[in-house]
Amino acid sequence: MKPENQTTDVIRRFVSKGVFPYQMAFTLLIPVRNLYMSPEKLSKRLELKEDLKVLEVGPGPGYYSIKMAKILNKGKLVLADIQQKMLDYAKKRIDKRKLTNVEYYLCDGTSFNFDDNTYDRIFMVTVIGEVENKDEYLNEFYRILKEGGLLSVSELAGDSDKLTIEEVKYLAEKHKFKFYKLYGNKRNYTINFIK
Ligand SMILES: C[S@@+](CC[C@H](N)C(=O)[O-])C[C@H]1O[C@@H](n2cnc3c(N)ncnc32)[C@H](O)[C@@H]1O
Repeated sequence: MKPENQTTDVIRRFVSKGVFPYQMAFTLLIPVRNLYMSPEKLSKRLELKEDLKVLEVGPGPGYYSIKMAKILNKGKLVLADIQQKMLDYAKKRIDKRKLTNVEYYLCDGTSFNFDDNTYDRIFMVTVIGEVENKDEYLNEFYRILKEGGLLSVSELAGDSDKLTIEEVKYLAEKHKFKFYKLYGNKRNYTINFIK
């Protein structure tokens, strides 16, 4: 593809539905995002404790991951993304902060190579709408989450793939999750489910 066509293609994918293009990852790091939901706010909603084992699905360049890794200083954070370039970007930012409790996992889009009952928390921010195989993912989340663990889905205004609260609730409950707590409003929200 010619360079000018490549640029057009990236911009087209940026403004439309589908997997967020890694070339635009820098836009996910603008601090104004804190007005929608800061990493601090999300960490409270996740009810994090320092020794938990947490999976973040679709971390992109790690806007939320750094704060979580700092809190989990006796635990572990695993970042799972479908784009290696996103994982590389997140790793670069995390290594710069000398955080050593983070691992990286390249998703295949359907299943997760983790044991049953592995994680205390699984969270995703502006990701669920992009996931092609939502039912497979929800099944897997239920399998790899510990009993009493939380699945947390956040959606923010301006995302072309955004799902409504009702859509996320329907999806999670279809896969045996129980509604736990809802924060925010229909524009920017976090909905937590319990296994
Ligand atoms: C809009 S970005 C959000 C990044 C980050 N959560 C944030 O809020 O800054 C969506 C991310 O989800 C990832 N993603 C999309 N589909 C995915 C899938 N099926 N499995 C794992 N990651 C996926 C994309 O590669 C991208 O990094």
